[in-house]
Amino acid sequence: MEVVPLATADEVAAVAADAVEGRVRARPDTVLGLATGSSPLPLYRELVRRRGAGHAPAYGAVTVFLLDEYVGLPAGHPQSYRATIHRDVTDDLGIDRTRVHGPDPDPDRLSDAGRRYEDALLTAGGVDFQVLGIGSDGHLAFNEPGSSLASLTRIKTLTEVTRADNARFFGSRDEVPRHVLTQGLGTILRASHLLLVAAGAGKAEAVAAAVEGPVSASCPASVLQLHPHASVLLDDEAAAGLRRADHYREVYAGKPAWQGL
Ligand code: GLP
Repeated sequence: MEVVPLATADEVAAVAADAVEGRVRARPDTVLGLATGSSPLPLYRELVRRRGAGHAPAYGAVTVFLLDEYVGLPAGHPQSYRATIHRDVTDDLGIDRTRVHGPDPDPDRLSDAGRRYEDALLTAGGVDFQVLGIGSDGHLAFNEPGSSLASLTRIKTLTEVTRADNARFFGSRDEVPRHVLTQGLGTILRASHLLLVAAGAGKAEAVAAAVEGPVSASCPASVLQLHPHASVLLDDEAAAGLRRADHYREVYAGKPAWQGL
């Protein structure tokens, strides 16, 4: 795992944007895995800004897979993750909506929604580059503490912590759905490259547990330690709980120019 403590969330966004663009330039039909939530927003804004400035790669052949989706919202609800990702990034990058896939929350087809999503991922050849955030309780996608490290896409029940965290996107906590469909930790581990971004003091404890704690279902994001190519980009506050932060900075400062993330 490569841990990169940077000064600000803007720096995190710039380094992450370089990595995404590099991947899409190298392979225009890249399969991108995109996360929702506030953590990747500065990255998405930076990608859109660069495209507006006219020096971004072409995104027309990129395919996108979402990590997760709420269950129980009316189709097209503005807080559905599909609507959110269109609005926050894919529309502005010129990625056609037919190329953006997410778990299907149709109430009549829920029983096999997980299997169908796993099949769609396999058919697409798997995710090449997966953007991730981390929940304040260490969740990854919507894999709450206790999730199997080998889990695949399935229905989960949100914790009260996560519903309270996400209430800011809804009118109140009561309006946050209780159930979700989420890629499992085993699904996420199949992506070729994982890039986790985190900013702010509220993430420091979860980041420290994920990066330097034991691999444990109690901190789902600790599963990154099992992945052969995981990058963790942090601002100053999110890195505050790391014991080896100075070493990570030294490693990054001495990184050869030819070696990307
Ligand atoms: C959400 C999402 C995750 C996200 C996490 C952190 O509920 N399902 O994919 O990484 O929680 O969200 P935020 O970045 O807004 O703090």
